Amino acid sequence: MKHEADENTTECPEELSRRSFYTKLSVGLSLVIGAMMVVPGLAYVLAPIVRKPPRDWRTVGKVDQFKVGSTSLVNFEDASSVPWAGVTAKTGAWLRRVDDSHFIAFSINCRHLGCPVRWVDDANLFMCPCHGGVYYSDGTVAGGPPPKPLKRLAVRVRNDEVQIETGPVPLTTTPV
Ligand code: FES
Repeated sequence: MKHEADENTTECPEELSRRSFYTKLSVGLSLVIGAMMVVPGLAYVLAPIVRKPPRDWRTVGKVDQFKVGSTSLVNFEDASSVPWAGVTAKTGAWLRRVDDSHFIAFSINCRHLGCPVRWVDDANLFMCPCHGGVYYSDGTVAGGPPPKPLKRLAVRVRNDEVQIETGPVPLTTTPV
């Protein structure tokens, strides 16, 4: 019995150093593989906290394109789009020309879960097709589940062109 135990514990120094090397190698590789799996997930979760969301001005048309009193759908590229986004890079807003020089814009995204709302001219309301959310013409909630008014987007006129500032999609958690 003693002889058997001696056989298990008596290994030559070369054998021990090889075993130690493979142990360290496998621990090292496990750490590298673990980091490769965890770091991208952490970066995805933490990036919005540490990085300011991209904002940009987009031209949506000439001033004369929009009739005073009208509310029109305008499309433009989202500020945070990536080169491979394809059609998902496009977003939109409802642009109202209040008078000759004054425009207001509402985000197209419902404040409940982000569905695109549509402007119904006859009813003078914004309607959300997903869960029946309804907004008055000033963007305040008229009915349904939306907890907040439609988000107003900044608008400016430059060189006779109307520009809208794009930002992240405004959902329930986004401040008004
Ligand atoms: S997403 Fe508009 S009411 Fe739900």
